[in-house]
Formats: sequence, structure tokens, C-alpha cells
Amino acid sequence: MSGYLLEMKGIAKRFNGVPALDGIDLAIRPGECIGLCGENGAGKSTLMKVLSAVYPHGSWDGEIVFDGRLLRARSVRETEDAGIIIIHQELMLVPELTVAENIFLGNEITLPGGRLDYHAMNRRAEEILRELKLPDVNVVLPVKNYGGGHQQLIEIGKALNKNARLLILDEPSASLTASEIAVLLEIIRDLKARGVACVYISHKLEEVAAICDTIVVIRDGKHIATTPMPEMSVDRIIAQMCGRELNQLYPSLPHEVGEVVMEARHITCYDPDQPQRKKVDDVSFQLRRGEILGVAGIVGAGRTELVTAIFGSYPGRHTGEVWLDGRRVDNGEPLKAIRNGFALVPEDRKHHGIVRDLSVGENITLSVLGRYAHLTRIDDGEEGRDVQEQIRRLALKTATPALPITALSGGNQQKAVLAKMLLTQPKVLILDEPTRGVDVGAKFEIYKLMLELAAQGIAIIMVSSELSEVLGVSDRVLVMGEGRLRGEFQNQGLTQETVLAAALGQHRTNAG
Ligand SMILES: Nc1ncnc2c1ncn2[C@@H]1O[C@H](COP(=O)(O)OP(=O)(O)OP(=O)(O)O)[C@@H](O)[C@H]1O
Ligand SMILES: [Mg+2]
Repeated sequence: MSGYLLEMKGIAKRFNGVPALDGIDLAIRPGECIGLCGENGAGKSTLMKVLSAVYPHGSWDGEIVFDGRLLRARSVRETEDAGIIIIHQELMLVPELTVAENIFLGNEITLPGGRLDYHAMNRRAEEILRELKLPDVNVVLPVKNYGGGHQQLIEIGKALNKNARLLILDEPSASLTASEIAVLLEIIRDLKARGVACVYISHKLEEVAAICDTIVVIRDGKHIATTPMPEMSVDRIIAQMCGRELNQLYPSLPHEVGEVVMEARHITCYDPDQPQRKKVDDVSFQLRRGEILGVAGIVGAGRTELVTAIFGSYPGRHTGEVWLDGRRVDNGEPLKAIRNGFALVPEDRKHHGIVRDLSVGENITLSVLGRYAHLTRIDDGEEGRDVQEQIRRLALKTATPALPITALSGGNQQKAVLAKMLLTQPKVLILDEPTRGVDVGAKFEIYKLMLELAAQGIAIIMVSSELSEVLGVSDRVLVMGEGRLRGEFQNQGLTQETVLAAALGQHRTNAG
């Protein structure tokens, strides 16, 4: 006996002839947690889709031995029956179904006559959510009533409800708060203690270092190194991922903050489901030319609601005024906002950022198609040049711009959404969690780009849950809590503690 629960040997996978995985080996012992690390597009998700038979046996080369037996699964059902459970990078929940229905989807409890046993499913779902420290979630409400972080935890709950021997978590924490991540890591420790093996994929390397026993790094579809965590550090993981030392996480570029370009006055947003409840309560602020304004706060603080209201994409009733260059503008809907010089890169790229049926190139030019419509035909040449320019500028990894957008790795889809918005040449660029799921190297590129845009005079609002990032790139920081502005700080000598204290409700300010 090898002592391994899983051995993947020489795994190779191509898409249309282009190799995505090139002879990868991976072995896991029971109770072991492997951190699978690599840049965007390295092949992490693809490797896990091979393992879980999203790509069935026969569509890739190599060999998988699970529990001492050759595994040649043709469907996810088969790998699930064997105890291999995958939580995908993109949420797979059905928004209209209830929380409990989602948790039991494909795995329903039935009564002797064959009817669904809702009572039992709801009770068990409540138990699972208690374990996930989500007691306030109502299991009989549709999943769409809950925000990204909660949905992610519900997805994890769904996996916990299955009998996992090997649990694969592909970017499980991208939309979770620090305390939610702590709960998740606690649950993984529990599973490990019970002998369950895990593969953990995350671009939050601190988290990987905290939970994983072994680090496997892949680059361009090739295995680079397998190292016990005690011999590793976050810096070494980064060096292996990028193939070089990255001695700086945040670029610096002097840029001048000028006059006020935009002003939001008394923005108030009402909860679409409970019209009396305010999600944003009378928030006003100014934004200056060439300024990067960070918006911090804990999840549920109303940050996304605030920026979508400014951009005209908030789904519920909202009041307040938006001023640009000293004039009131009507951003009643996103198209008007774009025409007025606003752009927004949304946090939820799956639902609001990309059009799944279109190619990478089509997605990028979507918001400016009018520009290429000379007379009746679209000018392919010019459009193609602009797309190539954006792809180069963002180091977006795609075989060709004609690839369907869904074929890109998660982080590269995010870059495509960013590229789309940059083509509109906005005066005010709003970024909601711009580096979610983006690797360290690409994060650096995105920050650099933000600084360059600021230096060109574009005013930027960045909503982010990563405090280090807020402090790393902002000129000024707004802190929100429970729908209100709780603090405003110039980013000079500002600490995470100060921002957190403000987010939690201790009013403080250092900005005039
Ligand atoms: N269905 C597909 N068709 C064509 N190419 C694909 C497809 N799926 C993945 N690829 C390509 O395979 C490579 C690996 O992608 P993968 O999604 O595995 O990366 P990843 O390591 O998970 O990245 P990320 O950190 O961004 O999630 C990428 O170059 C991607 O464009
Ligand atoms: Mg991935």
C-alpha cells in the first residue's frame, strides 16, 4: 500500500490542441490538505475538473488511482459516489430554489412513498448552517435573497452534506469575510481530523499557508514543486508560482490629486425585498481628479449598493444625486452612466460582468460597439487592434480573442471585464472587488494600471474587502458600516486597525 488516498499520474489535457495540463502528478494522503497554487490560467481548476470527472475519463491522458483502485469515472455522479466532492470556483447554486433545496439538489431525502421529505431536509439544512455559523439564514427562502458570501457558505454546506473522502475547494473564500474564512478553516481542520483529504485552491496565500500541509505549485500546466508547508513561506510560494521573486506587492507611482470631479449627494438605497429598510442611508462624498478612493467596510455595509446606485445598476428604489464636473447627471441606467463618463466593474462577474455566450473579444468590446460601427459594418480591424491592446495591457491569458469567455480561467475573466470597461475611457472608474480571484502577479498589474489611470486624471473608486489592498493603493479611504459612512481618512500612516475600528462603528476621521 502506498498510503495515498489519491494518486494522479501524468495528467495531460488539451483544449482544441492547446495543452492546459502537461503531465502533472499529484498524490494525497488521508487527512492531508494540499494547497494547489499557481497563477491565473496555470491549470488548477482544469486539474480538479479532471479529478472530479467534469472532464470524463477518455478526454484526458494519464491515470488516476483512488483508494487503491483505478478511477475511470465518466461523470461527476460517479466521482461523488466514490467520495470526491468538488466545490467549484464559480457558484453552482440555483438562485430560485430555496437554501435547503440547493443543499439537497440531486441528493434529496425522500419519504417511503417517494415524495420529497421537506421537513427532514429543512432540519438537516438548518443543522449544516449552524455548523457554518449562519444561523440567521432562513432555509426556506430562495438562495438569491442572500449575498455572495452567504451563497458561498451555502455552497460549502451543500458539499458538507455529501459524504466526502476528498474535498476539493476551488477558491472557496474569494467572497468571504475574515470571520467567515475563520469558520471555513475551522471546518477544514475538523474534516482533516476525521481523515478527509482536501485540495485547497486560493489566491489568498496567507490562508493557504495557515491550513495546508503540503504545497503543490503548477505553472503553465506543468508541475513545479511539491513541498511540505513547514519548509515553505508565502514568499517562497509566490516565487515558485511566478518563477521569480516578487519583492513588492504594491507598485508606487506619483499621481496628482486634482479638483473635485464627482460628487454623490445623499445617496439612499432601499432593500428591494423590504422596502422600509435602507441598505444605504444618506451617504455623500466627493471624488477628485486622479484620486483613488478606497471604500472599506465589512460585508453588508452597503458598499456595492452605494456604487451600483451611482452607476444606475442598483436593482431597488434609491434616491440622491450624482454630480459630475459641477453638473447634475442622470445615471438612471448603466448605459446612461457610461455615456456620462462612468464605468463600473462589478463584483459578481458571473451574473453582471460577462456574457457567457460571447467570445473574449466580443465581451471586451461589448460596451463600445457603437464606436466601431462605421456605416453598416463593424470595423474588424480597429476592433481587433483595441482588443489586442487591452489583452496585452492586462496580460490577459487567452489562446485567442475568439475563445469563449467561459473558457478563460477565473482570474482572466476578471481581467476581461476590466478591459471592457477601460475601453469606454471613463472619467470615473468604479471597481468593486477588482482583484477577487486574481493571482499576486496580476494583482500587481491591476494596481499598476489603476495608478497609471489615476496619473492620467481618471478618478477611481475601489470597493475592496482586502484591507491591505485598500491601504496599499488608495489616496483616501471611506469606511462604511450598516449603510452609513462611518469614517473618512487620508491614507497617510493609516492602519488596518483604525479602518476596522471605524467599520465596526467607532467614529473617527482624519480627513478635514
Ligand atoms: N473549456 C476550455 N476551452 C479552452 N481553454 C480552456 C478551457 N478551460 C480552461 N482553458 C484554458 O486552460 C488554462 C487553465 O485554466 P484553469 O481554469 O485551469 O486555470 P486556473 O489555474 O484555475 O486559473 P485561476 O486562478 O484564474 O482560476 C487556461 O489557459 C484556460 O484558458
Ligand atoms: Mg481556477
